[in-house]
Amino acid sequence: MPTTKEQLLELERRRKKIWEMGGASRVEKQHASGKLTARERVGLLFDPGTFQELGLFVTAPDDPDGVTYPSDGVVVGCGAIRGRLTFVAAQDFTVGGGAVGARHAEKIHDVMQEALRCGAPFIQINDSGGARIQEGVDSLHGYGHIFYDNVLLSGVVPQISIIAGPCAGGAAYSPALTDFIIMVSKAAKMFITGPEVVKAVTGQDITAEALGGALVATSLSGVAHFMAQNDEEAVEIAKRLLSFLPQNNTVDPPRVSSGSVLEFTPDLFLDEIIPDDPREPYNVLDVILHLVDDGDFLEIQPQFAPNIVIGLGRIGGRSVGLVANQPNALAGALDINASNKSARFIRFCNAMNIPLVTLVDVPGFLPGIEQEYGGIIRHGAKMLFAYGAATVPKITIILRKAYGGAYLAMCGKAMGADRVFAWPTAEIAVMGADGAVRVLYKKELEQAKDRDAVRTEKTEEYRRQHASPYVAAGKGQVDAVIMPRDTREYLLFALETLHTKRELRPAKKHGTMPL
Ligand code: HXC
Repeated sequence: MPTTKEQLLELERRRKKIWEMGGASRVEKQHASGKLTARERVGLLFDPGTFQELGLFVTAPDDPDGVTYPSDGVVVGCGAIRGRLTFVAAQDFTVGGGAVGARHAEKIHDVMQEALRCGAPFIQINDSGGARIQEGVDSLHGYGHIFYDNVLLSGVVPQISIIAGPCAGGAAYSPALTDFIIMVSKAAKMFITGPEVVKAVTGQDITAEALGGALVATSLSGVAHFMAQNDEEAVEIAKRLLSFLPQNNTVDPPRVSSGSVLEFTPDLFLDEIIPDDPREPYNVLDVILHLVDDGDFLEIQPQFAPNIVIGLGRIGGRSVGLVANQPNALAGALDINASNKSARFIRFCNAMNIPLVTLVDVPGFLPGIEQEYGGIIRHGAKMLFAYGAATVPKITIILRKAYGGAYLAMCGKAMGADRVFAWPTAEIAVMGADGAVRVLYKKELEQAKDRDAVRTEKTEEYRRQHASPYVAAGKGQVDAVIMPRDTREYLLFALETLHTKRELRPAKKHGTMPL
């Protein structure tokens, strides 16, 4: 019978062995490839001394002593991130390539279930060769549980994925079911079928990086939301993101103290941002940075569909989701990618009690065969659906163009906007003045001696009679025409007023959103 002291020493010995994970040479290899181990990543994520690991001694079914698979290759537990409870599952590539066996999956499943019960965010750090081949269908079954949990947690607690290594095949669907994906440059790879299969099936030659690296996923496919240069930056992005979010869907995001709500200074910069020439672009990010507290704005998916800007900021200390047309890209027109990008973000904000602030300068939906064949009607409808279904406070500011269905897709008054404010430069109409004059005065223009003079005259008349913000304001479709310099004050006031907004709708399972 071992003495108590011997038993305590035995615990120490066992723990030390497990903490070595895949062993010195594999850890060295991991470091040499620019990657951290799972415990190092977890150490960066949580406030010092707050992380408590669960299931340290779990091992694979065919490895009872945990020699091959210490902790079964995944570190799970909970702790505080900037003082707020968060759950984590971090795969360790040094243990069997971070591959997912039955117990590895069970550990993730258990911690996700606890995140759900406690109403706290869940972060997963993926670095894995996928299903553990030796465990066959048990591995597949385990993945199924994780996917199912991702769906259960969706809309209840925030879910963030950091892809810090391989995450290929069906495994990529777990992060895809979470709210945000952060990919580490060079290390992360996400694809359903890798380069060899692509080559065998299609004959196309492509590297893993070009097929599913961080740059491709954040710019071309839109699969991921952020690209980080290394593990440290990925963790920082996750922490910053969490700072804007609530713990779960039953509470508001934390309010950051920012002095008196009604304190404001007119911002003359905004009076001059709209160019005199309606065709001239400007950078809507400049407007956003002047509206949010301390110019602190976390842009999401900045490289994907740059014709629309989405992101999180605070106004008067309260988190807001911003959606803005970007005149600097495709003149701010809405296309398929912009519709998908923003609709998903609107849904997320609504689920997480984050008010929506929409900045409109939209000439319309992007014309073209590619867009029509690609289903722009179906995709654009997602924006209408997402805004129409959102019950959080919705505040719309029309900066310049607000034309046709695209204006409604940017949360026009009739789409349930609680406030619509327009700058004096706003043009709200079914279509732009040039196009409207071409349709309405086709005959006059054909017969006119001085076609340009008639066109100019009719364009001015159209702007006065139809497109001016005062026309829409006169009909109550705009709540106020405001000086650009006062926009922040109007936003502060509206957010304060609408903070207690409640909207009851008929009970249903869910709407049938066009997908
Ligand atoms: C078991 C695996 C593994 C796996 C890697 N390893 N992937 N063990 N099952 N899926 C082990 C290796 O044997 C090796 O063990 C260690 O992990 C490190 O792997 P290396 O190949 O040495 O590393 P590297 O050269 O960096 O290559 C990484 C890799 C490669 C690209 C991920 O390992 C790879 O292609 N693995 C197989 C990927 C795969 O086909 N997965 C199954 C896909 S099907 P030792 O002991 O030598 O250190 C799938 C279905 C999921 O995932 C379905 C979900 C719905």
